[in-house]
Amino acid sequence: MSRTLFTNIGLLVTNNPKEAARAGGTDSPTGEIRDAAMIVDNGVVVWVGKAADAETGGGFDIDAVVNVHGNTLIPGFVDSHSHLVFAGDRSAEFAARMEGTPYAAGGIRSTVAATRAASEESLREHVAALVKEMHSQGTTTIEIKSGYGLDVATEERLVRLASEVTEEVTFLGAHVVPAEFADSRDDYVELVTGEMLAACAPHSKWIDVFCEKGAFTVEETRRILTTGIDAGLQPRVHASQLGPGEGVALAVELGAASVDHCTYLTEEDIAALAGSSTVATLLPGVEFSTKQPYPSGRALIDAGVTVALSTDCNPGSSFTSSMPFCIAVAVREMGMSPAEALWASTAGGAQALRRNDVGRLSVGMRADIAEINAPSYIHLAYRPGVPLIGRVWKDGELIAG
Ligand code: NIG
Ligand code: FE
Repeated sequence: MSRTLFTNIGLLVTNNPKEAARAGGTDSPTGEIRDAAMIVDNGVVVWVGKAADAETGGGFDIDAVVNVHGNTLIPGFVDSHSHLVFAGDRSAEFAARMEGTPYAAGGIRSTVAATRAASEESLREHVAALVKEMHSQGTTTIEIKSGYGLDVATEERLVRLASEVTEEVTFLGAHVVPAEFADSRDDYVELVTGEMLAACAPHSKWIDVFCEKGAFTVEETRRILTTGIDAGLQPRVHASQLGPGEGVALAVELGAASVDHCTYLTEEDIAALAGSSTVATLLPGVEFSTKQPYPSGRALIDAGVTVALSTDCNPGSSFTSSMPFCIAVAVREMGMSPAEALWASTAGGAQALRRNDVGRLSVGMRADIAEINAPSYIHLAYRPGVPLIGRVWKDGELIAG
């Protein structure tokens, strides 16, 4: 692969304050350099700085030049929470919600029926289409959960299909208790922690549980997560989506990489998160699509909690694949500045996946890059709904635009 100079970058977001400041940029968390250049070698960033310095003193032989025409370059979005492997359509459920029907976890079962009935090839094609949709909106790292199979064969199929398109695969057999186990939920927990885990663990990196009224209790969640940890998976948790609960405290106790939703947090939850290595992943598409109140990103950041933003792309509670949409809502409704929202959707997402090779554009990081056809990333919130993402590169290779 050749060594490529990206130049004429109006604004480069590195998310590396030290390196940006050394190169004449800001030492804010987003580490921004104006009139910048970047050199990529074999899919990895090897130099960032002022464009003028690249031309005179970069010291690298260049094989190819990418002209960014004064636009903004940011690290590709890290979407750390999605449920992309499913079949069926729930748009009528969304329409009913807009007329006042409340969201309930039970809707998941209708997607389970459609997903079980779908062929492997049609599921594969659907995932590929959604991944393409995400790439074209600037997302370069995608976490994908199972959870619409809820039997051993289908859950295995879902994590296997996810593993064909990403290394960030999460086993979510404990999404809800399927209808056939309604009167024997202990047997379902037994299945999830036994045969289903054994079938899914080889394709998965993470284990997740929906810890909520209508899904799994905190005791069940603890049992499922600890069994998963013993099988070599790392924990993450869905919690406090529909009301306050003990899921956040459990996530912190188990050292989960992330606890997701966090719509209804108590003061104790916020204090526990602030003193932990667990990221709070906020999913504004869910509040938008379920008419729940938006959580305060401001309160979390002020308390010292690390916040990530993600789409939660799924057919029930949030059928958006757009990180720019989530950023716009976080800025408008959740008290986050454009810089905080951008950081949360790149470096924050990387931290939620415990990845230190993505989410930043500084020396040694993967060259996962999104171009914004605007002079600043502020335009992502300032011009909501406008397709501003231009070219997108993953490991230095153009994947969209
Ligand atoms: O993350 N919270 C649980 N699971 C999904 C919703 C799934 C659905 O409604 O189909 C979520 O919001
Ligand atoms: Fe989810």
